[in-house]
Amino acid sequence: MTHDPSSDTKRPLSSLDQWDDDVKRRYPEPAPSDDCDTPPAAQPKKKKPSEFRNYRAEARPSVKEFYRLNHTYQTVDFVRQKHREFLPLRRCRMSVWEALRELDKLVDDSDPDTDVPQIEHALQTAEAIRAQGHPRWFILTGLIHDLGKVLCLFGEPQWAVVGDTFPVGCRFSEKIVFSEFFAENPDSQVPEYQTECGIYEPGCGLDQVLMSWGHDEYLYHVVKDYLPEEGAYIIRYHSFYPLHREGEYTHLMNDYDRRMLPWVKKFNPFDLYTKSHDRPDVDRLLPFYEELVNEFFPPELDW
Ligand SMILES: [Fe+2]
Ligand SMILES: [Fe+2]
Repeated sequence: MTHDPSSDTKRPLSSLDQWDDDVKRRYPEPAPSDDCDTPPAAQPKKKKPSEFRNYRAEARPSVKEFYRLNHTYQTVDFVRQKHREFLPLRRCRMSVWEALRELDKLVDDSDPDTDVPQIEHALQTAEAIRAQGHPRWFILTGLIHDLGKVLCLFGEPQWAVVGDTFPVGCRFSEKIVFSEFFAENPDSQVPEYQTECGIYEPGCGLDQVLMSWGHDEYLYHVVKDYLPEEGAYIIRYHSFYPLHREGEYTHLMNDYDRRMLPWVKKFNPFDLYTKSHDRPDVDRLLPFYEELVNEFFPPELDW
């Protein structure tokens, strides 16, 4: 029996930001190192042994409930259905700026003291990349990387928009956060999906792998024809924490993935550790970013 996600209107998170904030709590900024790629936005602090925490015990109930829904309902059938539903990209046409403005409507029931508007997260990420002298496509990738969250405005539940992503159709890694909730996932009862590779060939390449559905995969299809492949790859896998932080699922990668993955790792600190309450001066930055967006994208994109 397949689940109809539209029947599940639960919204455990007060805002989508709560998931991002929780990821940052799980992967705190590392101590200073020789890695000159770490953005300087927030001065990293060394963790004392007493500060190492039990993530599961401390996760907010709303976050835990969010993962319960995500891990229960992200199945092979669900992902295939979402591809059929969204990937023809026939929903609407809108510009990058319209999408950014739409995203800012998402903060309705969030806490204004802790949440940064989406456009500010976009600009903070992009500005940190720019400050390190990275190429223009990389800065642009930082600006647009979360635009796939417009899925929420199309009525999709939170658990099908954000959350750490993972392959479906093969064994769920125990290193996925709250992996115990996969016991409720119907795919856990499908014998074919219980091996390390499941329905895939070893080394087949992630392009052949169905990932849990969310804002990464969706936006990848919206922008892939306009961005350099490195930028498109970053967008597609930036929430794949089980791979880029935990080192899981490498048996599904091919040479192309091994060439591209370092870009995802390079991008991740800019995404996680640049959120700050020093609000970017949107008006001052706009001319630079308008020119940048126009350099790569047509006036409107298919969503
Ligand atoms: Fe994201
Ligand atoms: Fe982000």
